[in-house]
Formats: sequence, C-alpha cells, structure tokens
Amino acid sequence: MAGTVESQRIQHIPPYLFARIDKIKEEARRRGIDIIDLGIGDPDVGPPKAVIDTLVESARRGGTHHYSSYEGLPELRAAFADWFEKRYGIRLDPDREVLPLLGSKEGIGHIFLSLVNPGQEVLLPDPGYPVYAAGTVLAGGVPVFFPLREKNGFLPDIKELTLLVTQNTKMIWINYPSNPTAAVSDLENLQKVADFADHHGLILCHDAAYSEIVYNGNRSASILQTRGGKEKGIEFHSLSKTFCMPGWRVGFAAGNAAIIEALARVKTNLDSGIFLPIQEAAVTALCECEESVKEICALFESRCSRFVSGLREIGWNIPMPQATFYIWAPIPAGSSSMEFCAHILEKTGIVCTPGVGFGKHGEGFIRMSMTMPEDRLEEALDRFQGLKMKWGKEEVE
Ligand SMILES: Cc1ncc(COP(=O)(O)O)c(C=O)c1O
Repeated sequence: MAGTVESQRIQHIPPYLFARIDKIKEEARRRGIDIIDLGIGDPDVGPPKAVIDTLVESARRGGTHHYSSYEGLPELRAAFADWFEKRYGIRLDPDREVLPLLGSKEGIGHIFLSLVNPGQEVLLPDPGYPVYAAGTVLAGGVPVFFPLREKNGFLPDIKELTLLVTQNTKMIWINYPSNPTAAVSDLENLQKVADFADHHGLILCHDAAYSEIVYNGNRSASILQTRGGKEKGIEFHSLSKTFCMPGWRVGFAAGNAAIIEALARVKTNLDSGIFLPIQEAAVTALCECEESVKEICALFESRCSRFVSGLREIGWNIPMPQATFYIWAPIPAGSSSMEFCAHILEKTGIVCTPGVGFGKHGEGFIRMSMTMPEDRLEEALDRFQGLKMKWGKEEVE
C-alpha cells in the first residue's frame, strides 16, 4: 500500500471520545478494577413494556423483515407530527417536515453533507456534543466554536456570536437541554439565537435529544416555536433518552421542508431505513407512553438530586442539573479534567468524562452520567467519600 491509508478528510477527526474512554475502561477492567461507569449517557432502564410488546409482535407477525420504505412508515411520521403538536403546539406536515432517522446522531452526522460546502464555516457550541464538529469536518466545512460560559448559564452570548460570524458562515448549532452542561434554554433565549441566525442568513440547527428530561416541573422549548422558526431551522429529536431506547436507533428531524428534503437525499443514498418492527414500536412509544416519560424523568431527577447532595456532603459544591441525566461538575482549580478523571479512575474505579473532551471551554469540569442503578450510584458516592481530597476550587491534595 503506497502512502497513508487515511483520507485527508478524516485526518482532522480524532477517534470518537467515548471509543477512547472505552479503551481506558477495558484496560482498568483487565487490571481487575470494579468499574462504575458514569462516563456514557446510556440509560440503564429499559423502554416501556408496551414498546417491547409491539416490537415482538411485529417481528413475529412476519412480512416485517424486508427493507422498509426510505422515508419511514407514514404512520410513524404522523405519530411524530401528532406528538410534536401536542407537545409544542406546532403542526408539522408529516410528509414534508418530518424525517425518521436511525437515531438522531445519524441525522446530525449526515446533515453537514447535505448543507455545507467545502470551506464554509459552521458555528458550534463549546462545550458541545462532538458529532457536530466531526460532521462539519467530514463535509469539508470549518468548525468555528462559540463558548458556553458558566456565568451566562451556558447560553450563547449573542455579542460573541456576532464577532465570530462571517460572510462564509452557513449555519449555527445549539443544543438544549444541553449535553454536557445540563442547561436549559427558555423560548426567549432560543428566540435571540433565532433572530441572530435570521439576521445573518444562517440555517439554525437545534439538537433537542434531551427535550423530555427536564427537572423542577419545567419544560423545554423548540426552535420551531420561535417566530419564523419553521422557515429557517431544523430540530433533531431522539427516542433514545425520552423512552430509554438508545440501542434501537430511532429519532427524527423536524422543520423546514427544503432542509428536510436535502437531508433525506443524502440519507436515502446511504441507508435503507429503520427496521419495521422498530418503527411500529416507535409509534407505540409516541402515542401511548406519555406516563412512562414522566416516570423516566422523575427517576433521573431523583438520582441527580441524591448524587448532588451526597457529593455536597463531602464538600464538593456542585449545582443541581436543570435537565438531562448529566452532572456537570466543576473540578478543583489547578487540575486538568483529563488528569482529574484519570486520578478518580485510579483511586475509585469510577469512570467520568473529562470536560475538555467536549471542547476547550469544557476544561475545568467533568461530566457524570446518572444512568446506573441506584445501588451502584450509592457505591460510587461511598467511593468518592473515601477519597482524601479537598473539593473546593482552591486546591487538590
Ligand atoms: C446532545 C446529543 N445529541 C444527540 C445524541 C444522539 O442520540 P441518538 O443518536 O441515540 O438519538 C446524543 C447521545 O448521547 C447526545 O448526547
């Protein structure tokens, strides 16, 4: 083989953060360490029973094992449009404004190929979900990161955005409820970003994967509720978190018909749709499982609350997340998030995600996912309590 194996396209893409963390975990397991994995956001509770029943019945029924239609069952698109209208009060056209995805990550990864020309810039949140930057680079675009700062409640600062936007900027991404910061944006703040996008002629993309995991009785907002939102934006939804179905790979894009069509054109050339029993089960989830969503949300809220108060007892002052199942914890000053996570893994066997993995403005934080059963979370708290560490921002021993 002559020359390098990699294409130039992938040379600027680091290995996926969680694939790297998986390797570190494996190594620790080999050394006999009992790992408690708070690294990845992979819900441990399964989907509602009715969803599993539909999947099993559909798989047994037969006739459901063929390739499915590229753009998903009409019943599935209709179920999502109905769910969306009930949830946000916005009516979507199920044929033109809704597109089922093989998990929202698939649509998020592909949309850059649909919309971004080589050399065009894309405004991305830092810290943020790593797939936005990878998708941008794979399409030949240029990621331009805007900081999400604690002092602004991890919301974009429009003044800073104005300094970063150029004639060459094609789109802007936001993600609320936010991974990793667990911040929520109300409609007023979404409107500010939508107005900014409008003013500069940018496509607005909103990743709403955690839309239903919001605490304190609050509800998250959609960019399609902003003035003119449906004309200029697209939003990504996921069943992975809402219904605890991460392995099933089902999600949706919703919004501007021309953008949806462009995404569908790439998708239909690259994949062949979602397994039919999964589509039927997703209809059950969207139409029949509202109560289960409330229970799932309450479960994560109580875990977050217990874990945060347990850590506060040892002097680690962590804010209670507003949403998602992540705790975004400031680390003691003077340590890097990578070193801090390595130290915790070494001393306690607990896997956390270093904030810097989500971008340079994630430095100074680590992320802990509450997707472990209660007894393991209690065990993690005990292990943290056993650590001889000064938790204040001032110093680490
Ligand atoms: C912010 C964010 N968006 C999207 C996704 C992708 O979710 P899925 O592809 O399972 O729908 C994730 C998964 O962790 C996420 O954290």
